[in-house]
Amino acid sequence: MKKLADGRVEATIAVLPGDGVGPEVIGEAVRVLKAVAAARGHLFQFDEALVGGVAIDETGSPLPSGTLAACRRADAVLLGAVGGPKWGPSAPVRPEEGLLALRRELGVYANLRPVSVHPALVDASPLKPELITGVDMLVVRELTGGIYFGAKRREGDRAFDDCSYSVEEVARVVRVAARMARGRRGHLTSVDKANVLETSRLWREVTQRIVSEEFPDIHLEHQLVDSCAMLLVRRPKDFDVIVTENLFGDILTDEAAVLTGSIGMLPSASLGSGPLGLYEPIHGSAPDIAGRGIANPCGTILSAAMLLRHSLGLEAEAALVEAAVAIAVGDGIRTPDLGGTASTRELGERIVCEIAAA
Ligand SMILES: NC(=O)c1ccc[n+]([C@@H]2O[C@H](COP(=O)([O-])OP(=O)(O)OC[C@H]3O[C@@H](n4cnc5c(N)ncnc54)[C@H](O)[C@@H]3O)[C@@H](O)[C@H]2O)c1
Repeated sequence: MKKLADGRVEATIAVLPGDGVGPEVIGEAVRVLKAVAAARGHLFQFDEALVGGVAIDETGSPLPSGTLAACRRADAVLLGAVGGPKWGPSAPVRPEEGLLALRRELGVYANLRPVSVHPALVDASPLKPELITGVDMLVVRELTGGIYFGAKRREGDRAFDDCSYSVEEVARVVRVAARMARGRRGHLTSVDKANVLETSRLWREVTQRIVSEEFPDIHLEHQLVDSCAMLLVRRPKDFDVIVTENLFGDILTDEAAVLTGSIGMLPSASLGSGPLGLYEPIHGSAPDIAGRGIANPCGTILSAAMLLRHSLGLEAEAALVEAAVAIAVGDGIRTPDLGGTASTRELGERIVCEIAAA
């Protein structure tokens, strides 16, 4: 990335549309990034590459070496979604392996998932309006360790998945979460299962030490994952920043996503120790609606906003995109998942127009 003297930015963005609705929602997010570049004079170059099922079909690998090289060359990676019935659980190679490998290879260990409810979408939530109005939380999920990356094996009629965490793996993600809490309401909830699991006991010890030594201004509370799952629906407004390990984070973030009414609204950013980040909506490839042009592009467009903020340092541009999404959805331009009739393109187009007019 190059920052010019007048504040404009030159950056290369690797674009990985993937499978199912991935190309549809990515198309709108790229149009939004181009609109931002045109409005503010930035120079973004887009480098498209294969990932997931389409990559398996074309190259035999869900993460071809050319794709990984394109991601490493780039300043940020924008991904749609991978997977689909064509490459089901019994397939010899699965699209999801490409995504796990990409996260590991890029070293993006902290997955940030903001969850907030747009005032106009309160009625789309399965929870009562008084519970949901004003929800604004950030879940920070550890992304490259734990049971998903442990050794897997079968012995006779028994199956094993190893789960391990090192002190450093916990410390680095807790630091990211504590920094985020510092920039928000200063409240951090660490979620574990320390009454049963040894990895969770280590998680709790390290979290307690890091926060008390390095972030004494942050209010830290520990929560067991089962009670956290309950509190997320009982009093979601109480949460500010949640930090948790990979498996618990996977489950809790899907639960938190439902609060907002549609999984199609939610973005994510996966960050490592450098500026390179991986940005993707939290939803999957939605094979049930793929190809129909009705997928909600907001989760991907809001992921592009996170890309502008976290990898390119363009905070004002990120806020511009977020405001444009809020205006479009607030004006009733909604895809069917939000109770509307707009197409993916119509919602994307309205967001682009808001950016151009700002
Ligand atoms: N990060 C990823 O790429 C990722 C994440 C989750 C699942 N997957 C894969 O995606 C495939 C489908 O998984 P799934 O059905 O469990 O989850 P999914 O998120 O794809 O779909 C769940 C439900 O949400 C709806 N939905 C999802 N995104 C939407 C959008 N943008 N707009 C409107 N509605 C939307 C779908 O239509 C579906 O009814 C599987 O192969 C799975 O492995 C990939």
